[in-house]
Amino acid sequence: MVETNIETLPAKKIFPLPNHVAIIMDGNGRWAEKRGMPRLFGHRAGTDNVQRVVEAFDRYQVRYLTLYAFSTENWRRPGVEVSGLFHILAEMIDRETKVLHKKGVKLAHLGKVDELAPELRDKVRKAIELTKNNTGMTLSIAFDYGGRAEILEAVRRIIYDDVPAEDITESLFGSYLYTADVPDPDLIIRTAGEMRLSNFLIWQAAYGEFYSTPALWPDFGEKEIDKALIAYSRRERRFGGLKAEGEAGEG
Ligand code: IPE
Ligand code: IPE
Ligand code: MG
Repeated sequence: MVETNIETLPAKKIFPLPNHVAIIMDGNGRWAEKRGMPRLFGHRAGTDNVQRVVEAFDRYQVRYLTLYAFSTENWRRPGVEVSGLFHILAEMIDRETKVLHKKGVKLAHLGKVDELAPELRDKVRKAIELTKNNTGMTLSIAFDYGGRAEILEAVRRIIYDDVPAEDITESLFGSYLYTADVPDPDLIIRTAGEMRLSNFLIWQAAYGEFYSTPALWPDFGEKEIDKALIAYSRRERRFGGLKAEGEAGEG
């Protein structure tokens, strides 16, 4: 039997498609380095890539897209890089919110808010408020996000709420996470070749399909998206059970 070439499969034939795609946008620094430029140049290029990625996934009618922009561990980077990143993020909100709103995108933030500068916090709040009734794709941006911090915050709030121990189910716990309104990711993409979650959605990723590509984030475009979606469509998800009925092959 001849294997279909992943590069040539017509995009419209991809099935099944994921409902929620979560992306670890990695490799901005390496992208800049390759060009002999400062790291922030790479972060700018990476940010400029967001709109085209949103559009591409929207065309595939992916309902939820989550982008990992800044981790709770990224505070360990030099001050200039951190402040530069937050500056770029604020600029992006100013520049892109209206465009996303016109497309019917609903914006969400995953992560801590208390450590953000008040001005940025305000921009985030306004963007979420503006788009809250939109019925298109939900675009969640994870910044100052850490999976462990998220779990600890949930535990604290459950305790503050005096929830009886026997009522703590997986679904109740999930409702205390930043992602309460977002289903678990079906496909988790990491760019720049690394094979780790780096504290991203560690609870929610339990049965997500992991896909890593060597492409650096600013280079991650439509062709790369097609490859990731085709790879996903060929995965067999079992969730601990056996092959889905009707799919079992002959021998
Ligand atoms: C990803 O790019 C963006 C953030 C983590 C903020 P990196 O900055 O990690 O890029 P590399 O890994 O150094 O290439
Ligand atoms: C993960 O990338 C965080 C984001 C993409 C925001 P890092 O570059 O920070 O991850 P490590 O340090 O290589 O694990
Ligand atoms: Mg990195």
